[in-house]
Amino acid sequence: MNQYRYSIALILLFIFSSCSDEQQPHIPNRQGVVAEHAMVVSAHPLATQVGFEILKNGGNAIDAAVAVHFALAVVFPAAGNIGGGGFMVYRTKDGKYYTLDYREKAPNLAGRDMYLDENGEVSNQKSTLGHLASGVPGSVDGMATVHEKFGQKPWKEILHPAIDLAKNGFLLTEKEASALNNSQEPFITYNTVLPENIIRDSWQPGDTIFYKDLASTLERIAEKGREGFYGGETARLIVEEMNRGQGLISYDDLQNYHSVWREPISFNYKKYTMTSMGPPSSGGIALAQLFMMINNFPLHQWGINNPNTIHAMAESEKMVFADRASYLGDEDFVDVPVGNLMDIQYNDQRAATIDFSKARTADEIFAGTFVPEHEETTHFSIVDQYGNAVSSTTTLNGGFGNHVVVGGAGFFLNNEMDDFSAKPGSPNMFGLVGGEANAIAPNKRMLSSMTPTIVEKDGQLFMVVGTPGGSTIITSVFQTILNVVEFDLHMQGSVDFPRFHHQWRPDKIIYETDRFDPLLYENLKKLGHQFVERSSIGRTDAILILEDGHLEGAADPRGDDSAIGF
Ligand code: DON
Repeated sequence: MNQYRYSIALILLFIFSSCSDEQQPHIPNRQGVVAEHAMVVSAHPLATQVGFEILKNGGNAIDAAVAVHFALAVVFPAAGNIGGGGFMVYRTKDGKYYTLDYREKAPNLAGRDMYLDENGEVSNQKSTLGHLASGVPGSVDGMATVHEKFGQKPWKEILHPAIDLAKNGFLLTEKEASALNNSQEPFITYNTVLPENIIRDSWQPGDTIFYKDLASTLERIAEKGREGFYGGETARLIVEEMNRGQGLISYDDLQNYHSVWREPISFNYKKYTMTSMGPPSSGGIALAQLFMMINNFPLHQWGINNPNTIHAMAESEKMVFADRASYLGDEDFVDVPVGNLMDIQYNDQRAATIDFSKARTADEIFAGTFVPEHEETTHFSIVDQYGNAVSSTTTLNGGFGNHVVVGGAGFFLNNEMDDFSAKPGSPNMFGLVGGEANAIAPNKRMLSSMTPTIVEKDGQLFMVVGTPGGSTIITSVFQTILNVVEFDLHMQGSVDFPRFHHQWRPDKIIYETDRFDPLLYENLKKLGHQFVERSSIGRTDAILILEDGHLEGAADPRGDDSAIGF
């Protein structure tokens, strides 16, 4: 079961106490859960267990993924969802890739300036809290779409564990109890019908929580598939909720929502081939750029904890996020110069501008130029006993999304509209800036950083990886893969490893509190880097295929995450 309850503090004690350029410190390098045939790693032990049982009973990775998705909507409602959206990367046992975009869309009545006040300033709260913040949910259509194409087990059977958990209740973990306690005020402020089942003075770990309305909604979805959400009673309840709270989502928006199979983003790094998500996620392209830039430097020789390594990574990250802000958006609405951005020569030239004697400020860095071609979240990783693999990241955006529970339907709505650029240059809740390519338009999908990724080594399945974390998703996936392929850490060692992140603006390296070696910090400061702490970055859940074919499941100790295999 979950073997990752170690306190991060324990790990910290051993990290980096004597790091220097010459002498690499001892790097803690735990191995995760090892199993022979199949593995599920998700953000909650109950959801992981649901996926495990589906596989044990002969289901495939897609059956397990759909069951885990719906189970997370119950046991981890801050991010697991039916009122949000996400992306899934699927690799069949024969090595074919399918990438599904079930990202939310702007409602048809959304407009470019909908979050600007009378002075033309962004009023952030409107894009993050309450009814106006919600895009049209994509999750249920996404799950129905992948299941219809690849599922083996009956849809109703897959929905059953989630219904059971919602109806019969389950015990809260410490993290879940405190997440609910911390959000009581916005729950009360932003709901038009008080969600009695989650309102309480104080939740304690071990309390039982029930989601009866959600159970009924899930039963309608089990009975009618996508129509159980986008039509009938559930659609009626969503539209009534929107009417009560002056939201924009209409019945037509729901009926017109469809997830889309997108072209996978694939690229090579040394002997590895990585496949990830294309627009409207920026994840795949940004990851490709980061690996192409970093390929110019001898990271392995420098070592994992070396100022040159961190400097090269941070400087590359700045340039990639500058490109992201200028060029990336929903390809159904804007031309994204995918070929230019993923051109090896372009990224080599960008990498050549890195100055190893100093950090460049954000003002010194611009998006690259070329002649354009014409033409709070949760992640889970699954490998089944047949060799199929799923990497899926899904979200409501912020924890509990816009904090609105659809009256009578029992589920939270997303606040994904905040991922649009409400005004050029004005930062969103992740501090990300953007422009025209990611401006709001009716029915457009907001740009994402979600980076569900599958890595092959010499043509064989090698790693399944992804994480939540907003803008830090891209760099956490980058770092987690590098820790294994360049610095030889176990999958678990890599997931445990302290994370850092740069996103160009704000012009700071974000790092995990107390988890950066003081000497390294001083060396990087001398180069001109500025720093800001964050208590933790991401919750990465990953699987590594070991040389003997066994699977190593690595669940992130930063959350309730767990890995189970057989
Ligand atoms: O799509 C995105 O990039 C964001 N909505 C993801 C949000 C997220 O990861 C929040 N979790 N920590």
